Amino acid sequence: MEFMKIIRTVKEMQAEAEKLRRNGKEIGFVPTMGYLHEGHLSLIRTAKQKANAVVLSIYVNPTQFGPNEDLDKYPRDFIRDEALARQEGADIIFYPSDSEMYPADFLTTVQVNEITGLLCGASRPHHFAGVTTICAKLFHAVKPHFAVFGQKDYQQGVVIRRMVKDLDLDLEIIVAPIVREPDGLAMSSRNVYLSDLERKEASVLHEALELADLKVRGGERDTASLLKSVTAPIRSKPLLKIDYIKIVHPDTLKDVSRIEDRAVLALAVFAGKTRLIDNQILRATQ
Ligand code: PAF
Repeated sequence: MEFMKIIRTVKEMQAEAEKLRRNGKEIGFVPTMGYLHEGHLSLIRTAKQKANAVVLSIYVNPTQFGPNEDLDKYPRDFIRDEALARQEGADIIFYPSDSEMYPADFLTTVQVNEITGLLCGASRPHHFAGVTTICAKLFHAVKPHFAVFGQKDYQQGVVIRRMVKDLDLDLEIIVAPIVREPDGLAMSSRNVYLSDLERKEASVLHEALELADLKVRGGERDTASLLKSVTAPIRSKPLLKIDYIKIVHPDTLKDVSRIEDRAVLALAVFAGKTRLIDNQILRATQ
């Protein structure tokens, strides 16, 4: 496609997707809430490697925010996002309004059970139902052959894969690696909320994850001991407050006491009022 289109309605998006499919195009989809950073751009690049039509959605989905969360102040800059998406070679931006996605008579929720109550779901009880509902809607609007998500939201990737499997949705889910700032902090649109001091202290999160990775590579398998060494440097930072730090099975997200093959070290930590998440896959066998 020669120029990037901006589509605002589901009907138009579906018609465009049908046209692309009829013309034999492979549709790659990158769902985002906008305020694009290098992490999002890397997802567009991943999609472009495999697809010949890349759709990026920009939609700050209200149903995945809790009542006291940052929906109103979530950063938005469509003009900048549009320029970045064009630069990366996206073919379409799907940019719907709230009333387009959730008309006044909207009644449906798509809910994955069990795994959505763990990790982030323990402190954000309605979050994943909002994510799966909007992703189901976006998948039906964009009709992609595959969708690319970032590994930073590890649990989100697991939940989306489960929804796709359980509902027999006809698309592949790709999870692309975390993109980090030079000091290791995982890129996030929410990083703009951090004060200089919070930002400085937050770099300890990646250091702690790397330390655990190093220990596992060195033969440590006991998760209690690993958690102790990850927690200590984070606790030492006065502006950081741990929501959770866990080592879990990569699919069930349940706590594991030993690392047998692979496990995921996942954490959520408040830096001041900003909730940051990060994770590291721990491999007993390299
Ligand atoms: O990861 C995100 O940005 C959002 O959760 C998503 C997948 C775009 C759904 O709103």
